[in-house]
Amino acid sequence: MIDLDRIRSEALADIAAADLEGLETTRVALLGKKGAITALMRSLGDMGPEERRNAGLALNALKDVISTALDQRKARLDAERLDQRLARERVDVTQPARPDRVGRIHPISQTIDEVVAIFGQMGFAVAEGPDIEDDFHNFTALNFPPGHPARLMHDTFFLPEKSDGSRFLLRTHTSPVQVRTMRKQAPPIRVIIPGRTYRCDSDMTHTPMFHQVEGLVIDKTTTMGHLKGCLIEFVKTYFEVDEVPVRFRPSFFPFTEPSAEVDIGCSRAGGELKIGAGADWLEILGCGMVHPNVLRNCGIDPDEYQGFAFGMGIERIAMLKYGIPDLRTFFESDLRWLHHYGFVPLDVPTLSGGLAR
Ligand code: DAH
Repeated sequence: MIDLDRIRSEALADIAAADLEGLETTRVALLGKKGAITALMRSLGDMGPEERRNAGLALNALKDVISTALDQRKARLDAERLDQRLARERVDVTQPARPDRVGRIHPISQTIDEVVAIFGQMGFAVAEGPDIEDDFHNFTALNFPPGHPARLMHDTFFLPEKSDGSRFLLRTHTSPVQVRTMRKQAPPIRVIIPGRTYRCDSDMTHTPMFHQVEGLVIDKTTTMGHLKGCLIEFVKTYFEVDEVPVRFRPSFFPFTEPSAEVDIGCSRAGGELKIGAGADWLEILGCGMVHPNVLRNCGIDPDEYQGFAFGMGIERIAMLKYGIPDLRTFFESDLRWLHHYGFVPLDVPTLSGGLAR
Protein backbone atom coordinates (compact mmCIF):
# COMPACT_ATOMS: atom_id res chain seq x y z
CA MET A 1 0.00 0.00 0.00
CA ILE A 2 1.35 3.43 -0.95
CA ASP A 3 1.81 5.84 1.94
CA LEU A 4 -0.34 8.73 0.70
CA ASP A 5 -0.01 10.58 4.00
CA ARG A 6 3.74 10.71 3.63
CA ILE A 7 3.54 11.84 0.02
CA ARG A 8 1.06 14.51 1.04
CA SER A 9 3.09 15.93 3.92
CA GLU A 10 6.29 15.92 1.86
CA ALA A 11 4.55 17.64 -1.04
CA LEU A 12 3.01 20.29 1.21
CA ALA A 13 6.39 20.89 2.85
CA ASP A 14 8.04 21.30 -0.58
CA ILE A 15 5.35 23.74 -1.67
CA ALA A 16 5.59 25.76 1.53
CA ALA A 17 9.36 26.07 1.09
CA ALA A 18 9.37 26.93 -2.62
CA ASP A 19 10.06 30.37 -4.05
CA LEU A 20 8.32 31.57 -7.24
CA GLU A 21 10.74 29.89 -9.62
CA GLY A 22 11.01 26.70 -7.50
CA LEU A 23 7.24 26.44 -7.26
CA GLU A 24 6.86 25.70 -10.94
CA THR A 25 9.48 22.92 -10.69
CA THR A 26 7.58 21.49 -7.71
CA ARG A 27 4.30 21.62 -9.62
CA VAL A 28 5.78 19.79 -12.56
CA ALA A 29 7.40 17.19 -10.25
CA LEU A 30 4.01 16.48 -8.67
CA LEU A 31 1.30 17.11 -11.25
CA GLY A 32 3.20 17.33 -14.55
CA LYS A 33 3.05 14.65 -17.22
CA LYS A 34 5.84 12.71 -15.53
CA GLY A 35 4.96 13.90 -12.00
CA ALA A 36 4.65 11.67 -8.94
CA ILE A 37 0.89 12.09 -8.51
CA THR A 38 0.30 11.60 -12.24
CA ALA A 39 2.26 8.34 -12.08
CA LEU A 40 0.12 7.17 -9.15
CA MET A 41 -3.05 8.03 -11.07
CA ARG A 42 -1.75 5.98 -13.96
CA SER A 43 -1.14 2.99 -11.65
CA LEU A 44 -4.88 2.84 -10.92
CA GLY A 45 -5.31 0.96 -14.19
CA ASP A 46 -3.49 -2.05 -12.83
CA MET A 47 -5.73 -2.41 -9.78
CA GLY A 48 -8.83 -4.49 -9.22
CA PRO A 49 -12.17 -2.66 -9.25
CA GLU A 50 -12.66 -2.40 -5.48
CA GLU A 51 -9.12 -1.33 -4.79
CA ARG A 52 -9.20 1.13 -7.71
CA ARG A 53 -12.30 2.84 -6.34
CA ASN A 54 -10.81 3.45 -2.90
CA ALA A 55 -7.40 4.41 -4.19
CA GLY A 56 -8.98 6.66 -6.82
CA LEU A 57 -10.98 8.58 -4.23
CA ALA A 58 -7.93 9.03 -2.01
CA LEU A 59 -5.70 10.06 -4.90
CA ASN A 60 -8.17 12.60 -6.24
CA ALA A 61 -8.51 14.12 -2.80
CA LEU A 62 -4.72 14.31 -2.54
CA LYS A 63 -4.47 15.91 -5.96
CA ASP A 64 -7.03 18.55 -4.96
CA VAL A 65 -5.16 19.35 -1.77
CA ILE A 66 -1.90 19.72 -3.65
CA SER A 67 -3.43 21.85 -6.42
CA THR A 68 -5.01 24.17 -3.88
CA ALA A 69 -1.77 24.42 -1.95
CA LEU A 70 0.12 25.25 -5.17
CA ASP A 71 -2.40 27.95 -6.12
CA GLN A 72 -2.35 29.52 -2.70
CA ARG A 73 1.41 29.52 -2.52
CA LYS A 74 1.61 31.07 -5.99
CA ALA A 75 -0.87 33.82 -5.09
CA ARG A 76 1.04 34.58 -1.93
CA LEU A 77 4.44 34.70 -3.68
CA ASP A 78 3.02 36.89 -6.48
CA ALA A 79 1.64 39.32 -3.93
CA GLU A 80 4.94 39.42 -2.05
CA ARG A 81 6.87 40.06 -5.23
CA LEU A 82 4.50 42.88 -6.19
CA ASP A 83 4.88 44.43 -2.73
CA GLN A 84 8.65 44.31 -3.07
CA ARG A 85 8.49 45.91 -6.52
CA LEU A 86 6.16 48.64 -5.34
CA ALA A 87 8.47 49.40 -2.43
CA ARG A 88 11.54 49.36 -4.67
CA GLU A 89 10.08 51.37 -7.56
CA ARG A 90 8.50 54.07 -5.46
CA VAL A 91 8.06 57.36 -7.36
CA ASP A 92 8.38 60.65 -5.57
CA VAL A 93 5.70 62.73 -7.28
CA THR A 94 6.88 65.85 -5.51
CA GLN A 95 10.18 65.80 -7.40
CA PRO A 96 10.50 68.57 -10.01
CA ALA A 97 10.18 67.39 -13.64
CA ARG A 98 13.34 66.94 -15.67
CA PRO A 99 12.07 67.77 -19.16
CA ASP A 100 15.62 67.72 -20.53
CA ARG A 101 15.48 63.97 -20.26
CA VAL A 102 12.40 63.50 -22.43
CA GLY A 103 13.43 64.99 -25.76
CA ARG A 104 12.09 67.99 -27.64
CA ILE A 105 8.96 68.98 -29.51
CA HIS A 106 9.73 69.55 -33.20
CA PRO A 107 9.17 73.16 -34.36
CA ILE A 108 6.52 71.93 -36.84
CA SER A 109 4.49 70.34 -34.04
CA GLN A 110 5.02 73.41 -31.88
CA THR A 111 3.84 75.76 -34.64
CA ILE A 112 0.75 73.63 -35.34
CA ASP A 113 -0.04 73.66 -31.60
CA GLU A 114 0.31 77.44 -31.52
CA VAL A 115 -1.91 77.97 -34.57
CA VAL A 116 -4.52 75.60 -33.12
CA ALA A 117 -4.40 77.43 -29.77
CA ILE A 118 -4.95 80.82 -31.43
CA PHE A 119 -7.79 79.77 -33.72
CA GLY A 120 -9.22 77.54 -31.01
CA GLN A 121 -9.62 80.63 -28.86
CA MET A 122 -11.55 82.26 -31.73
CA GLY A 123 -13.97 79.32 -31.78
CA PHE A 124 -12.49 77.22 -34.60
CA ALA A 125 -12.57 73.42 -34.38
CA VAL A 126 -9.82 71.23 -35.83
CA ALA A 127 -10.70 69.06 -38.86
CA GLU A 128 -8.54 66.48 -40.61
CA GLY A 129 -8.56 64.53 -43.85
CA PRO A 130 -6.54 61.83 -45.63
CA ASP A 131 -3.09 62.43 -47.16
CA ILE A 132 -4.06 60.17 -50.08
CA GLU A 133 -6.80 61.94 -52.00
CA ASP A 134 -8.70 61.63 -55.24
CA ASP A 135 -8.88 64.09 -58.10
CA PHE A 136 -12.40 65.15 -57.10
CA HIS A 137 -11.52 66.40 -53.62
CA ASN A 138 -8.07 67.79 -54.46
CA PHE A 139 -9.04 69.55 -57.69
CA THR A 140 -12.47 69.16 -59.30
CA ALA A 141 -14.66 70.07 -56.32
CA LEU A 142 -12.34 73.02 -55.68
CA ASN A 143 -13.26 74.45 -59.08
CA PHE A 144 -10.08 73.50 -60.96
CA PRO A 145 -11.51 72.91 -64.47
CA PRO A 146 -10.24 69.74 -66.23
CA GLY A 147 -6.94 70.50 -67.98
CA HIS A 148 -6.58 73.83 -66.17
CA PRO A 149 -2.93 74.97 -65.89
CA ALA A 150 -3.35 75.43 -62.11
CA ARG A 151 -3.47 71.63 -61.86
CA LEU A 152 0.00 71.44 -63.43
CA MET A 153 1.31 74.11 -61.07
CA HIS A 154 0.71 71.72 -58.21
CA ASP A 155 3.33 69.16 -59.36
CA THR A 156 1.19 66.30 -58.16
CA PHE A 157 2.47 62.91 -57.03
CA PHE A 158 0.08 60.37 -58.57
CA LEU A 159 -0.42 56.79 -57.43
CA PRO A 160 -0.57 53.98 -60.05
CA GLU A 161 -3.62 53.97 -62.29
CA LYS A 162 -6.64 51.92 -61.16
CA SER A 163 -8.61 49.61 -63.46
CA ASP A 164 -11.13 52.40 -64.20
CA GLY A 165 -8.29 54.69 -65.33
CA SER A 166 -8.49 57.00 -62.32
CA ARG A 167 -5.55 57.60 -60.01
CA PHE A 168 -5.28 58.46 -56.35
CA LEU A 169 -2.81 61.22 -55.52
CA LEU A 170 -0.97 62.70 -52.56
CA ARG A 171 -2.88 65.83 -51.67
CA THR A 172 -1.11 68.93 -52.94
CA HIS A 173 -2.73 71.19 -50.35
CA THR A 174 -5.02 70.96 -47.30
CA SER A 175 -7.91 72.54 -49.26
CA PRO A 176 -9.55 69.15 -50.10
CA VAL A 177 -10.46 68.93 -46.42
CA GLN A 178 -12.62 72.04 -46.95
CA VAL A 179 -14.63 69.92 -49.37
CA ARG A 180 -14.79 66.94 -47.03
CA THR A 181 -15.91 69.18 -44.16
CA MET A 182 -18.62 70.98 -46.13
CA ARG A 183 -20.00 67.73 -47.56
CA LYS A 184 -20.21 66.24 -44.08
CA GLN A 185 -21.28 69.13 -41.89
CA ALA A 186 -24.06 71.67 -42.32
CA PRO A 187 -23.16 75.36 -41.85
CA PRO A 188 -22.30 77.30 -39.78
CA ILE A 189 -18.75 75.94 -40.17
CA ARG A 190 -15.61 77.23 -38.51
CA VAL A 191 -12.63 74.87 -38.83
CA ILE A 192 -8.88 74.88 -39.18
CA ILE A 193 -7.15 72.00 -40.87
CA PRO A 194 -3.47 71.31 -40.18
CA GLY A 195 -1.75 68.55 -42.12
CA ARG A 196 0.90 67.20 -44.45
CA THR A 197 0.91 68.11 -48.13
CA TYR A 198 3.01 66.86 -51.05
CA ARG A 199 4.42 68.25 -54.27
CA CYS A 200 7.02 66.90 -56.64
CA ASP A 201 9.46 69.71 -55.97
CA SER A 202 12.79 69.69 -54.19
CA ASP A 203 15.32 72.50 -53.91
CA MET A 204 16.59 75.09 -51.40
CA THR A 205 13.09 76.35 -50.62
CA HIS A 206 10.89 73.33 -51.45
CA THR A 207 10.62 69.87 -49.93
CA PRO A 208 8.45 67.10 -51.45
CA MET A 209 6.49 66.92 -48.19
CA PHE A 210 5.56 70.02 -46.24
CA HIS A 211 2.78 71.22 -43.95
CA GLN A 212 -0.12 73.60 -44.35
CA VAL A 213 -2.91 74.85 -42.19
CA GLU A 214 -6.20 75.65 -43.86
CA GLY A 215 -9.03 77.73 -42.43
CA LEU A 216 -12.69 77.68 -43.44
CA VAL A 217 -15.64 79.73 -42.21
CA ILE A 218 -19.12 79.36 -43.72
CA ASP A 219 -22.16 81.23 -42.46
CA LYS A 220 -24.98 83.40 -43.76
CA THR A 221 -23.35 86.78 -43.25
CA THR A 222 -19.62 86.08 -43.32
CA THR A 223 -17.72 88.76 -45.23
CA MET A 224 -14.24 89.67 -46.43
CA GLY A 225 -14.12 92.04 -43.44
CA HIS A 226 -14.35 89.05 -41.12
CA LEU A 227 -11.57 87.36 -43.07
CA LYS A 228 -9.32 90.40 -42.67
CA GLY A 229 -10.06 90.85 -38.97
CA CYS A 230 -9.51 87.20 -38.27
CA LEU A 231 -6.17 87.03 -40.09
CA ILE A 232 -4.85 90.29 -38.66
CA GLU A 233 -5.69 89.04 -35.17
CA PHE A 234 -3.93 85.77 -35.93
CA VAL A 235 -0.78 87.46 -37.23
CA LYS A 236 -0.52 89.73 -34.17
CA THR A 237 -1.02 86.89 -31.73
CA TYR A 238 1.23 84.42 -33.51
CA PHE A 239 4.16 86.82 -33.96
CA GLU A 240 3.53 88.30 -30.52
CA VAL A 241 3.53 91.91 -31.70
CA ASP A 242 0.98 94.59 -30.80
CA GLU A 243 0.75 96.15 -34.23
CA VAL A 244 1.75 94.69 -37.54
CA PRO A 245 1.20 96.18 -41.00
CA VAL A 246 -0.86 93.72 -43.05
CA ARG A 247 -1.45 94.02 -46.80
CA PHE A 248 -4.08 92.12 -48.81
CA ARG A 249 -2.87 91.83 -52.41
CA PRO A 250 -5.28 90.66 -55.15
CA SER A 251 -4.44 87.18 -56.39
CA PHE A 252 -5.98 84.13 -58.02
CA PHE A 253 -7.04 80.74 -56.70
CA PRO A 254 -9.69 78.65 -58.50
CA PHE A 255 -11.57 78.00 -55.24
CA THR A 256 -11.93 81.60 -54.04
CA GLU A 257 -13.39 84.78 -55.53
CA PRO A 258 -12.14 87.34 -54.78
CA SER A 259 -8.74 85.94 -53.82
CA ALA A 260 -5.87 87.62 -52.03
CA GLU A 261 -2.39 87.01 -50.78
CA VAL A 262 -1.46 88.41 -47.41
CA ASP A 263 1.83 90.18 -46.77
CA ILE A 264 3.08 91.34 -43.41
CA GLY A 265 5.39 94.26 -42.80
CA CYS A 266 8.96 93.53 -41.80
CA SER A 267 12.41 94.98 -41.77
CA ARG A 268 15.57 93.28 -42.95
CA ALA A 269 17.91 95.97 -41.64
CA GLY A 270 21.35 94.65 -40.79
CA GLY A 271 20.52 91.23 -42.20
CA GLU A 272 18.16 90.53 -39.30
CA LEU A 273 14.50 89.91 -40.05
CA LYS A 274 12.07 91.75 -37.78
CA ILE A 275 8.34 91.17 -38.09
CA GLY A 276 5.96 94.05 -37.54
CA ALA A 277 8.02 97.06 -38.54
CA GLY A 278 9.95 98.45 -41.48
CA ALA A 279 9.58 99.01 -45.17
CA ASP A 280 9.65 95.45 -46.54
CA TRP A 281 6.80 93.03 -47.15
CA LEU A 282 6.72 89.29 -46.67
CA GLU A 283 4.06 87.00 -48.13
CA ILE A 284 2.63 84.55 -45.61
CA LEU A 285 -0.66 83.12 -46.88
CA GLY A 286 -3.37 82.85 -49.51
CA CYS A 287 -7.04 83.50 -48.84
CA GLY A 288 -10.35 84.58 -50.28
CA MET A 289 -14.11 84.22 -50.30
CA VAL A 290 -15.17 80.65 -51.05
CA HIS A 291 -16.18 80.39 -54.72
CA PRO A 292 -19.94 79.77 -55.27
CA ASN A 293 -19.04 76.75 -57.45
CA VAL A 294 -17.19 75.18 -54.53
CA LEU A 295 -20.17 75.70 -52.23
CA ARG A 296 -22.44 74.15 -54.87
CA ASN A 297 -20.07 71.18 -55.34
CA CYS A 298 -20.38 70.59 -51.61
CA GLY A 299 -24.17 70.76 -51.51
CA ILE A 300 -24.33 74.24 -49.94
CA ASP A 301 -26.60 76.87 -51.48
CA PRO A 302 -24.46 79.92 -52.42
CA ASP A 303 -27.55 82.15 -52.33
CA GLU A 304 -27.97 81.35 -48.66
CA TYR A 305 -24.40 80.85 -47.45
CA GLN A 306 -21.01 82.41 -48.04
CA GLY A 307 -17.68 82.30 -46.31
CA PHE A 308 -13.94 82.64 -46.40
CA ALA A 309 -10.96 80.33 -46.56
CA PHE A 310 -7.24 80.67 -46.13
CA GLY A 311 -4.18 78.48 -46.36
CA MET A 312 -0.65 78.94 -45.15
CA GLY A 313 2.61 77.05 -45.01
CA ILE A 314 3.59 75.91 -41.53
CA GLU A 315 7.32 75.67 -42.25
CA ARG A 316 7.33 79.23 -43.54
CA ILE A 317 5.70 80.80 -40.49
CA ALA A 318 7.84 78.62 -38.20
CA MET A 319 11.03 79.78 -39.96
CA LEU A 320 9.92 83.41 -39.69
CA LYS A 321 9.05 83.26 -36.02
CA TYR A 322 11.94 81.13 -34.82
CA GLY A 323 14.67 82.33 -37.14
CA ILE A 324 15.25 78.95 -38.74
CA PRO A 325 17.24 79.73 -41.88
CA ASP A 326 17.03 76.51 -43.92
CA LEU A 327 13.81 74.67 -44.79
CA ARG A 328 15.48 71.34 -45.44
CA THR A 329 16.82 71.05 -41.89
CA PHE A 330 13.24 70.46 -40.68
CA PHE A 331 13.37 66.96 -42.14
CA GLU A 332 16.96 65.89 -41.50
CA SER A 333 16.23 64.38 -38.06
CA ASP A 334 19.45 65.89 -36.72
CA LEU A 335 19.20 65.64 -32.93
CA ARG A 336 21.53 68.58 -32.37
CA TRP A 337 19.28 70.72 -34.56
CA LEU A 338 16.23 69.48 -32.70
CA HIS A 339 17.84 70.25 -29.38
CA HIS A 340 18.59 73.77 -30.53
CA TYR A 341 15.29 74.62 -32.27
CA GLY A 342 12.98 72.22 -30.43
CA PHE A 343 10.63 72.98 -27.55
CA VAL A 344 10.27 71.65 -24.04
CA PRO A 345 7.41 69.11 -24.02
CA LEU A 346 5.73 70.38 -20.87
CA ASP A 347 5.34 73.94 -22.19
CA VAL A 348 2.06 73.44 -24.04
CA PRO A 349 1.15 76.59 -26.00
CA THR A 350 -1.84 78.52 -24.64
CA LEU A 351 -2.89 82.12 -25.04
CA SER A 352 -3.02 82.67 -21.30
CA GLY A 353 0.20 80.84 -20.44
CA GLY A 354 2.20 81.98 -23.46
CA LEU A 355 2.60 80.43 -26.88
CA ALA A 356 6.29 79.64 -26.79
CA ARG A 357 8.97 79.75 -24.14
N1 DAH B 1 -4.43 75.82 -51.36
C1 DAH B 1 -3.57 76.96 -51.63
C2 DAH B 1 -2.17 76.46 -51.96
O1 DAH B 1 -1.79 75.40 -51.57
C3 DAH B 1 -3.53 77.88 -50.45
C4 DAH B 1 -4.83 78.57 -50.26
C5 DAH B 1 -5.10 79.77 -50.90
C6 DAH B 1 -5.82 78.01 -49.47
C7 DAH B 1 -6.29 80.41 -50.73
C8 DAH B 1 -7.04 78.67 -49.30
C9 DAH B 1 -7.26 79.87 -49.95
O2 DAH B 1 -8.03 78.15 -48.55
O3 DAH B 1 -8.43 80.50 -49.78
O4 DAH B 1 -1.45 77.15 -52.59
